[in-house]
Amino acid sequence: MTNPRIAHPGLAARTMSAQDAAALIAPGSTVGMSGFTGSGYPKAVPMALAERMEAAHAAGDPFRVKVWTGASTGPELDGALAKSDGVEFRLPYNSDPIAREKINRGEMEYFDMHLSQVAPMAWQGFLGPLDTAVVEIAGIRPDGSLIPSSSVGNNKTWLDRASKIILEVNAWQNPALEGMHDIYYGTALPPSRVPIPLVKPDDRIGEAYFRVDPAKVVAVVETDAPDRNLPFAAPDASALAIAGHLLEFFAHEVAKGRLPPSLLPLQSGVGNIANAVLTGLVDAPFENMTAYTEVIQDGMLDLLAAGKLRMASATAFSLSPEAAAGLNADMEKFRDKMILRPQEISNHPELIRRLGCIAMNGLIEADIYGAVNSTHVMGSRIQNGIGGSGDFARNAYVSIFMTPSTAKGGKISAIVPQVSHVDHINQDVQVIVTEQGLADLRGLSPKQRARVIIDNCAHPDFRPGLEDYFQRAQAGAYGRQTPTLPGEALSWHQRFMETGSMRS
Ligand code: COA
Repeated sequence: MTNPRIAHPGLAARTMSAQDAAALIAPGSTVGMSGFTGSGYPKAVPMALAERMEAAHAAGDPFRVKVWTGASTGPELDGALAKSDGVEFRLPYNSDPIAREKINRGEMEYFDMHLSQVAPMAWQGFLGPLDTAVVEIAGIRPDGSLIPSSSVGNNKTWLDRASKIILEVNAWQNPALEGMHDIYYGTALPPSRVPIPLVKPDDRIGEAYFRVDPAKVVAVVETDAPDRNLPFAAPDASALAIAGHLLEFFAHEVAKGRLPPSLLPLQSGVGNIANAVLTGLVDAPFENMTAYTEVIQDGMLDLLAAGKLRMASATAFSLSPEAAAGLNADMEKFRDKMILRPQEISNHPELIRRLGCIAMNGLIEADIYGAVNSTHVMGSRIQNGIGGSGDFARNAYVSIFMTPSTAKGGKISAIVPQVSHVDHINQDVQVIVTEQGLADLRGLSPKQRARVIIDNCAHPDFRPGLEDYFQRAQAGAYGRQTPTLPGEALSWHQRFMETGSMRS
């Protein structure tokens, strides 16, 4: 029986099993996969590829590929390939625990890069050739154009750049997704680059479909499988306190005339705290808000449903299983309020600066001068990756980072004398919030920043140690602009690695 979702006869004729499609991927090749935070990733071909890899390894004939994605994906992709020891190189953001272990054991090369830069770098040729694209879509139209799925990510670029294409048509994806996407085809390389004509988060500047050269499509695979995102934890006391401080800050900024009453387009990072802040906004006095962000989480759906958020622009959904099922059942209600774009547009520095986004992202640790480490535990173990946090932090109207003041049951202070790895320099960090309070760093010198970060954000148990270090650094540092004692600055991390705690 013909599948109504595959309406192009030529492409319908290329329908085959996931195993047959995976057999078209050669060892050592580079594969561009769809997928962004657990949505819109291919669910059958990577699993079939992993089976081939396992069989090859068992026969003593290692089979590995280089994998490019949009961002993190699901266990059927990153997990399955990492478990089969099938990935020699991966970019960009990853949150899969098996892949993380391999990377941290030095068994997988990982390029952790700004998400807005992946597509341009692929076009610039810096990443090498792309052999195969494996892209999940919601359907194929009679003219061969493709209806995107629940994430857009880098799919446009993979479809354009790859020598051959494998499509997964997922019947689980709601047909009402059609028309929600805005695929912009106006990007170019310098010196031919022109301004991107988007001036409001709701502007549509592209097309609703992906273009594809049917001659490059070597396989079409039918699937019917749900996206798999992790559930969000119910906000704990710490997340609620952080959300409270932030909402108070927004109200203060509105009262001062530095933010309009509807705020400015919100960007909200990954994780439970970001979600808790969004949930907190449901009861806050801000109306008619917009979001220009990377992912639409549960909290954003709540804001849309409550009518507080007018619309949200992103590149993907990042929903708990319940919220994803809820959205799927109620897509008609939401579809006019959401736009999904390629990640080079959702995260574009030009657009983030123009729109004046309010960036809210998580962190691993911040130091007393306000530099932020978002990625590396103890300076060397990757947690996830920088993701889009750098795209937003540097270009936002106000760049906010939030975290509980301690980690690992209180053994680690999130505020340290010096970060063990730098993702965001202190010029890109304007506000830090913990459950203890909020440090507004705008316009402050390094020593003034240290004062408010220690007083407002550090956990009381670690405050005296930070105070002691700061005083001695001011008295004895080589220079007094950003007083640092190099021999001691990372001693808290050293103590954790030696004793399992930063506490002295
Ligand atoms: N030292 C050691 N481990 C730490 C730590 C620290 N200072 N801070 C956090 N962690 C650990 C937590 O213990 C937790 O580990 P577990 O999974 O073993 O329990 C893990 O890091 C995640 O921390 P959590 O407190 O659950 O916060 P989160 O889900 O909000 O994630 C980041 C925080 C920084 C990892 C996450 O925000 C991230 O990946 N950021 C970078 C990308 C980004 O900002 N993307 C959004 C841009 S659009």
